Amino acid sequence: MKLRSSLLTAVGSTALAAGCQGNPFPDPPVHIIQNMDFQQRYEAQERNDLFEDGRAMRRPVEGTVARGEVHLKENDHLYRGRGPDGRLVDALPSNIVDSAALLARGEERFNIYCSPCHDKAATGHGIATTRGGGFQVQPASLHQDRLRAMPLGYFFDVITNGKGTMLSYAAQIPAEDRWAIAAWVRTLQTHGKTKGWDETTGMTTVAAAEPAAENGAQKDG
Ligand code: HEC
Repeated sequence: MKLRSSLLTAVGSTALAAGCQGNPFPDPPVHIIQNMDFQQRYEAQERNDLFEDGRAMRRPVEGTVARGEVHLKENDHLYRGRGPDGRLVDALPSNIVDSAALLARGEERFNIYCSPCHDKAATGHGIATTRGGGFQVQPASLHQDRLRAMPLGYFFDVITNGKGTMLSYAAQIPAEDRWAIAAWVRTLQTHGKTKGWDETTGMTTVAAAEPAAENGAQKDG
């Protein structure tokens, strides 16, 4: 008897559950604990006739500074790579000192952010270009004559705003580091040729020579 009733319950509840499936129900589901889930408020982009322009979203008062913005980024040279005449500059901003430390930082950041596509010698044969079918537009070799002739601010500008299919790196790389990278790009451009960097493979004779020397040293030891 007991078995029979539990069997019946099982069959009954299965039938009930199956019966509900696929049937549209016009009311929202029962929401027992309300908390503050339903409130009278405006959604983004919603209309609001209270204001003359009919928009619920209000514009910030002129001159508003977002929380966390320590300065207004008014320094055009530092934040946009441009001088007072609006043209790209070919010099570091005054607060960034041209030093070995700057180049070391630039090299490190370049190898993290740029070399996956442009490779460490900046010839455009980074590891990402050999994976997943490669790129439709190849990362540029930064040793092209056209780019060699570009002012330092140009590289800052490309990192900041992207170029063609290359995206902006402004969100990942702070402005000061973008200058360090630009300085490193210039260093690669000026010294790349003399170091024997091969523009077709992206391999450096320097990089190739190092492991061999290490092995030799190990054998000697
Ligand atoms: C995800 C791959 C990728 C990364 C990472 C990347 N680039 Fe590029 N870059 C490209 C591609 C692709 C192009 C060519 C874009 C085009 O011509 O449409 C390019 C072009 C360039 C150019 C040439 C712009 C011109 O005038 O033709 C410069 C300069 C450059 N990149 C610098 C950098 C620097 C510096 C970094 C590191 C902060 C970097 N890129 C990171 C893919 C990348």
